[in-house]
Amino acid sequence: MDLTRAARPEVRMVLDAASGPGGFLATALDAFPEARGVWFDVSTTMMDEAKANLERFGGRVEYRIGDLVNIGEAGELGSFDLITSSRATHHLAVPDLTRFYQQTAGLLASNGWFANVDSMSEGGPWRQRLRDVRADYRVAAGAADQPTHPQINVSPKMSEHFAALRAAGFTEIELVWRVFVTGLVMARKIDPKEFVR
Ligand SMILES: C[S@@+](CC[C@H](N)C(=O)[O-])C[C@H]1O[C@@H](n2cnc3c(N)ncnc32)[C@H](O)[C@@H]1O
Repeated sequence: MDLTRAARPEVRMVLDAASGPGGFLATALDAFPEARGVWFDVSTTMMDEAKANLERFGGRVEYRIGDLVNIGEAGELGSFDLITSSRATHHLAVPDLTRFYQQTAGLLASNGWFANVDSMSEGGPWRQRLRDVRADYRVAAGAADQPTHPQINVSPKMSEHFAALRAAGFTEIELVWRVFVTGLVMARKIDPKEFVR
């Protein structure tokens, strides 16, 4: 949120894609007190949970049920200043991820920001090394190292996220934070008039 605020202090509309219980949307709405938010997720159970969690924001939040591959249904083209997603895109196959990013770019206003935190390491030996060390840390901390839900596809690699974001027209794509296999990628939909080479 601090990175977004530094680059775009005037955030008025936020979309949280696959918002689940709504914790990330709450963080965004606290960070931008003038902003309104759209909660978007495929699960009605999650919507009920989010409505309870986000009650204090009252009419600042709209709730929309839908699939990430149809995220374009979440609002009008060019209507969001910030779109977030967390811990969900690893469920998408690469063509669906590309479709999600293309529609996300369409929903963003010029110079709007997109932020996605998810499991997105490169494949091969590094993914396993990072997972092994993470498991050691969890055991040392007395925490479980079990997946919370089944993973039925092979989650997209970091490079596939970057390629899909570029293909969708995003610029300033950057890995701004990473711990083990979890990365936070930010990208901007820049107005071509402001693009500086
Ligand atoms: C691990 S939870 C993360 C929730 C929230 N973003 C967070 O980080 O606390 C994953 C969420 O993604 C949603 N989800 C999974 N696949 C989805 C899809 N294809 N379209 C929309 N939502 C999806 C689930 O319903 C769930 O709420």
